Amino acid sequence: MFVFTSEEKNKIEKIVGRYPVKQSALLPLLTLVQRRDGYVSPEAMEAIGKELELSPAYVQSVMSFYTMYHAQPTGKYIILFCHNISCQLNGADELLKYTAKKLGTDVGGTTTDKKFTLHQEECLAACCGGPMMRINDTFYENLTREKVDQILDSLP
Ligand code: FES
Repeated sequence: MFVFTSEEKNKIEKIVGRYPVKQSALLPLLTLVQRRDGYVSPEAMEAIGKELELSPAYVQSVMSFYTMYHAQPTGKYIILFCHNISCQLNGADELLKYTAKKLGTDVGGTTTDKKFTLHQEECLAACCGGPMMRINDTFYENLTREKVDQILDSLP
């Protein structure tokens, strides 16, 4: 069962107060849940909908448009590996395969220890630093195999 804590309820009230209509607070509430749980479950969509007077179907339709929200449980670290043109021309495809092999998971999958979820992503607007990946909120640019090793091995 999905429940907002009283602290989260207070936070939601403040967030909703920033907007002329409460429905406009949908993305911040999705972000709140995504950061807390690592994904947004159907029960969470329903709870968000109740807070904002939106149907769960509407919440899901908005959520599914944005790739930073996940409907399935994820690892502690979500790796978004850019595979658009600038990154691709600088070796992103090979590095993504390397990263998947290193982690022992497919693209779109989560490691068995639930530490990493690996996704390929459209342009993340760091094209001059390609190949690049985002892990949770941090961008890593000008990647090489050695840098990928160093970054992934350093995460607790
Ligand atoms: S093409 Fe990779 S960040 Fe833009």
